[in-house]
Amino acid sequence: MAVDVLLGLQWGDEGKGKIVDVLTRNYDIIARFQGGPNAGHTLEFEGHKHVLHTIPSGVFHPESSNVIGNGVVIDPVIFKKEIDNLKVHNVDVNKVLKISRKAHLILPSHRLLDAASEAAKGKNKIGSTLKGIGPTYMDKTGRNGLRVGDIEQDDFKERYDALVAKHEQILMHYTDFEYDLKSIEDEWFAAIDFLRSLTLIDSEHFMHKSLREGKTILAEGAQGSLLDIDFGSYPFVTSSTTTCAGSCTGLGIAPNKIRKVFGIFKAYCTRVGSGPFPTELFDETGKELRAKGNEFGATTGRERRCGWLDLPALKYAIDVNGVTNLIMMKSDVLSGFPTIKVCTAYRYKGTEIDYLPYRTDENLVEPIYTELPGWNEDITKLENFDDAPQNLKDYVAYLQEELGVPITIVSVGPDRKQTIVLEETTASV
Ligand code: GDP
Ligand code: IMO
Ligand code: MG
Repeated sequence: MAVDVLLGLQWGDEGKGKIVDVLTRNYDIIARFQGGPNAGHTLEFEGHKHVLHTIPSGVFHPESSNVIGNGVVIDPVIFKKEIDNLKVHNVDVNKVLKISRKAHLILPSHRLLDAASEAAKGKNKIGSTLKGIGPTYMDKTGRNGLRVGDIEQDDFKERYDALVAKHEQILMHYTDFEYDLKSIEDEWFAAIDFLRSLTLIDSEHFMHKSLREGKTILAEGAQGSLLDIDFGSYPFVTSSTTTCAGSCTGLGIAPNKIRKVFGIFKAYCTRVGSGPFPTELFDETGKELRAKGNEFGATTGRERRCGWLDLPALKYAIDVNGVTNLIMMKSDVLSGFPTIKVCTAYRYKGTEIDYLPYRTDENLVEPIYTELPGWNEDITKLENFDDAPQNLKDYVAYLQEELGVPITIVSVGPDRKQTIVLEETTASV
């Protein structure tokens, strides 16, 4: 009668997709609880690379059940393309995928509003993925939104027209913004028809029933804790609750059902989009991290900003989420750096602090680093952590000590197999 949660502890792209795929063998159900096609979760196995946006990362396991929860926002057009891509790989979508009727729909006009808002912000833009995420969640909390279940109702088209009329009123205020809504609507309505043919469920009932039946459940987060609407670097955040609490509201499960919380972090830091990033590197080291880590967005292809690991930020994310198990990703990318820096505190308004302050703008916060020796060995074929270079072992031991939570998996490459389990975990029941 319990749920485990897996989520990102930084600014997204930590490698959630890869690890959910690895852990799926332990679980009956994988459930996405928030976000939408702003996410890009990459899975690699058997020589193929797959990028999922809305679909949970357990979908390649034929025995798994994958739920898109009520907290998710769905763009039917992107969703249909994602599903078409899966069919090539013989995934029986109607068997392995269920969609909450309470998930909200991203309309074509939400995407236009996102683009218009970002253009109007100019240099202060959020750097949104332009998938319409912000406007869709605004309509959800503003109580105007359309939900998946509405496509089964007779008045769907009228409700759609009424909401679009509202959006066009708003778009009129963006005088420099030109758009052609009609040209993107046909594809959207075709995708809505397709959505009707899928398995739509009352997902909270399904979750409750599954819990009662003793099914094992893993909730999959999107984005990262530092992009959370409340606890992220506001306003440079996404519009949903990316932290552990979001798994309760985004799936309809009670907080006392949550057991393990797997917190994923990269062995360094990246961020895509605007906003403060205290340990960002603008030098050759930053470029080297980007090149070696192939740090380009899975959804937008944008360059990811790179920097050293930030412990005050990581500790903050661990506390907000109640992380019980840490998973360190992309350790292989650090091979070859003579020294590895870790930010342990900040100089803030003339004093040293070891926590994340209200504002972390570049001119307010200066990172204070500890340096650790690097390692030169290629670790991408490592299977047993006992055989790891001593300096990698020391890096892991140092982080565990500082963070006070065990690191139970170390990832050494993008493939499913490049995963070293330090401490075996089973699904909570
Ligand atoms: P997600 O959004 O958290 O699922 O992460 P993304 O898929 O956006 O970004 C993670 C990227 O790193 C993907 O390209 C993965 O294939 C890749 N990746 C995951 N784990 C590792 C690893 O341990 N080493 C390396 N080199 N790449 C990894
Ligand atoms: P995954 O799940 C990294 C960032 C955007 C932007 C901000 C707001 O793959 O880790 P939005 O489109 O949500 O309004 O954009 O959030 N962002 C992500 N960055 N990974 C993601 O998802 C992201 N989803 C949104 O770049 O800075
Ligand atoms: Mg991603």
